[in-house]
Amino acid sequence: MTQSLNANIPKQSIALSIKINGTRYEREIAPTATLLDVIRDELGLTGTKKGCDMGGCGACTVLVAGRRIASCLALAASFGEADVTTIEGIGTADRLHPLQDAFIRHDALQCGYCTPGQILSAIALLAEGPLSIDDIREGMSGNLCRCGAHANIVAAIAEVGGL
Ligand code: FES
Ligand code: FES
Repeated sequence: MTQSLNANIPKQSIALSIKINGTRYEREIAPTATLLDVIRDELGLTGTKKGCDMGGCGACTVLVAGRRIASCLALAASFGEADVTTIEGIGTADRLHPLQDAFIRHDALQCGYCTPGQILSAIALLAEGPLSIDDIREGMSGNLCRCGAHANIVAAIAEVGGL
């Protein structure tokens, strides 16, 4: 008689307390859950996108204490003390963040799938200090756009950066 190898392994969950966009959330999560999956699936903040799910596209970019990270590579359990910002914490439909406004005016998006990650990444990049156009290109190279809007994305960021 065969038996499932997993039959005697208890299902585990851990308590997570995490602060996102100024709100603290308490959830039971799988110990292996990524920050991306908690943000999207547990908290319903679906502005953060899943692209490659392996750290290569930047669609899942969020800010942790103002610094950008790929949330698909981050273990949620490690972020209990963190202050996380997602695109839902950046501007509103009535009061856009200057980068959101610039992206629209510069036609820096088509399907929009990469845009939340682009905006958050650009916020962190601009906070690093004065930048050249090449600095922006280099600094945004981890955020891919399958629609090919990179030139307009750089132009929008450059405008907000005062270039
Ligand atoms: S989904 Fe995280 S880097 Fe692509
Ligand atoms: S706007 Fe479509 S992937 Fe960037």
